[in-house]
Amino acid sequence: MKVEFYGHVRQYRNIQKEIDASLQQVLLSGQYVLGPVLKGFEEELARYHGMKYAVGVGNGTDAIWLTLIALGIGPGDEVITHPNTFFATAEAIWIAGATAVFVDCDPRTKCIDPAKIEAAITPKTKAIVPVHLYGQCADMQAIHRIADKHKLFVVEDNAQGIGAQGDGFKVGELSDAATTSFIIQKNLGTFGDGGALVTNKADIDARVRKLRNHGSNARNVHSYGFNSRLDDLHAGVLSAKLKHIDGWNDLRRKWAARYTAGLKDCRHLDLPVELPGYRHVFHLYVVETRKTEQRDPLLKFLNDAGIDAKTHYSIAIHQQAGYPWGKAARVVGPPSNAERNAACCISLPMFPELTAEEVDYVVGKVREWDEAQR
Ligand SMILES: Cc1ncc(COP(=O)(O)O)c(C=O)c1O
Repeated sequence: MKVEFYGHVRQYRNIQKEIDASLQQVLLSGQYVLGPVLKGFEEELARYHGMKYAVGVGNGTDAIWLTLIALGIGPGDEVITHPNTFFATAEAIWIAGATAVFVDCDPRTKCIDPAKIEAAITPKTKAIVPVHLYGQCADMQAIHRIADKHKLFVVEDNAQGIGAQGDGFKVGELSDAATTSFIIQKNLGTFGDGGALVTNKADIDARVRKLRNHGSNARNVHSYGFNSRLDDLHAGVLSAKLKHIDGWNDLRRKWAARYTAGLKDCRHLDLPVELPGYRHVFHLYVVETRKTEQRDPLLKFLNDAGIDAKTHYSIAIHQQAGYPWGKAARVVGPPSNAERNAACCISLPMFPELTAEEVDYVVGKVREWDEAQR
């Protein structure tokens, strides 16, 4: 049996009529950039998040740095995040011109550990960028308290967690803005690149709207800016898909529960932790081998059995070759949990269109490996 890591084509087939109709609407409208379909999608996205504003941009990386720049963050400023996230989180801080400051992650959730943040704050610190890693919210209540006390901005990197909720909080409501990515493999993904931010702050909305469009919000009137817009074709696809996101996330949660039930007795693995009261949307279902030297053999065992397991992310940012490439960066405290996560993580196939047979096959193979360990 073969189990793929992604189900993009299955998903397209399931709602092909809706997507094709949406694409055709854009194609026939004659307006493909900053057109009515993008405007409509931005309104739907803001409503979905229960936020006032949503701005569509070129990708999830741009969404972060455009927001940082809109907040006035740049050279000489420090922004705190954690090093076991996708590279783009730190990259966006560098693109904004700021210093990336890395602290450790929580050993259970792998999101930033709020208890490690205060030791990293200096007079230069301007913002915290927590990542809702793998689809579970970081502890935004604790992060919000710290930010409030030290007068820091918070930009949530929600590339992986659209539809996630915390215990008593929603994405975006305890921060200045939440950004997301619509690259195809995300829980809400288009057939290419895309991104957005949601915010309740009119000034952030207005600044990013200008920055993404050559510093312009009126024809021929410009200030310094960039070209980073979400095309209407992508907005059309995303608008069709947004109607399904809660159902798809429910399916991800169902497959995650099936993995967890099947693997809970494994003696050589730690399974993902869903915090009580949180809605984890399982962008990724990431297990960790107990020993670092077990990870690569398990990955090979699964790949050889036709299972497209992967790693997210097997090299922590501060451990990448050449780090920090002449950019400003600091690591505060030994990020031991983040390094362990990088060394032990394996992502099992996870997408809404999986079948019970596929999940059970993966469970069977992982158990077979586990039982063969001494
Ligand atoms: C946590 C995280 N941040 C940022 C990004 C960047 O998004 P994009 O690839 O759309 O630029 C991604 C995904 O790619 C991500 O997973």
